[in-house]
Amino acid sequence: MENINWSDLTFGYMKTDYNVRSYYGSGKWSDLEVSDSEHINLHIASTCLHYGQEAFEGLKAFRGKDGKIRIFRMCENALRMQSSSRGIMMAEFPVELFEKAVVEAVKRNERFIPPYESGASLYIRPLLIGTSAQVGVKPANEYLFVVFVTPVGPYFKEGFKTTPVGIYREYDRAAPHGTGTYKVGGNYAASLVAGEIAHANGYSAVLYLDAKEKKYLDECGPANFFGIKNNTYITPASSSILPSITNKSLIQLAEEIGMNVERRQIPLEELATFEEAGMCGTAAVISPIQRVDDVDTNHSYIFSTDGKPGPTCEKLYYKLRAIQYGDEPDKYGWVTVL
Ligand SMILES: Cc1ncc(COP(=O)(O)O)c(C=O)c1O
Repeated sequence: MENINWSDLTFGYMKTDYNVRSYYGSGKWSDLEVSDSEHINLHIASTCLHYGQEAFEGLKAFRGKDGKIRIFRMCENALRMQSSSRGIMMAEFPVELFEKAVVEAVKRNERFIPPYESGASLYIRPLLIGTSAQVGVKPANEYLFVVFVTPVGPYFKEGFKTTPVGIYREYDRAAPHGTGTYKVGGNYAASLVAGEIAHANGYSAVLYLDAKEKKYLDECGPANFFGIKNNTYITPASSSILPSITNKSLIQLAEEIGMNVERRQIPLEELATFEEAGMCGTAAVISPIQRVDDVDTNHSYIFSTDGKPGPTCEKLYYKLRAIQYGDEPDKYGWVTVL
């Protein structure tokens, strides 16, 4: 794809050649279909439009120095989409078919996979929606699964650096026993207002506290939270956060480099004791936190004064990226090489 300026790409949508679809009806999923249309034909009473029967995933494919294409942990995304489906009563998409659809979508759009040197990657977006007509609040009996891809730029254009995040107590993204552990559209709709306010005030994300007591750290708008102290990687245990696949991977790498790992409730005040803090997710791997501003109390927790990430964030970031791009051996079997 010679006329794409890979290094100018942002995290946005760009039309690619094909997407892959499967339809559910009468209790089963259809064979995969390849489409060159960016549009779908929807009934006006589809449950996805009225009652939020929608779940999605996000994962990436990378081109290595060897020219090979690597997809990162797609089985985990397939399983998480099944969990989301159970959470909002949608038909579960089979793991094997999910993997086949992802591979097909990546291969069919091979010309959009950025070259190794660019630091860009191919973002893969699977989507599952309820499509049958319903006006009562009930689950659909027909569903559509689609996977499309779009090239996205390197997250850190000017190098790996820290950003500030803000705490705003008057907003929650998910209830304690709500849908926070599922990747469903409603959670993101619920986070838009706080996200916009945070961005307008110079923060890269909102750091949410637990919705019930506002005592413990939950997660950031689009990423999990972790803190580092005393050679320990600490990340929140909570019933309202998304189980991040990046976080799960970083935990394993932290253990590999001899760190202790704790997954537990983190009281807000404990931020003062962390040597480093970061957000983690597919988009950035790690987005190290410069400082957390508790906007409601005017208190700041500072992790970096020069914009530079701490040594542990840096180590974990480069280690995970090296596995994704194939620069380091894939000893945990995380990567599917095409
Ligand atoms: C709310 C939320 N938390 C965490 C994450 C990070 O998850 P993952 O590492 O699987 O991308 C994401 C993004 O996918 C997210 O939307």
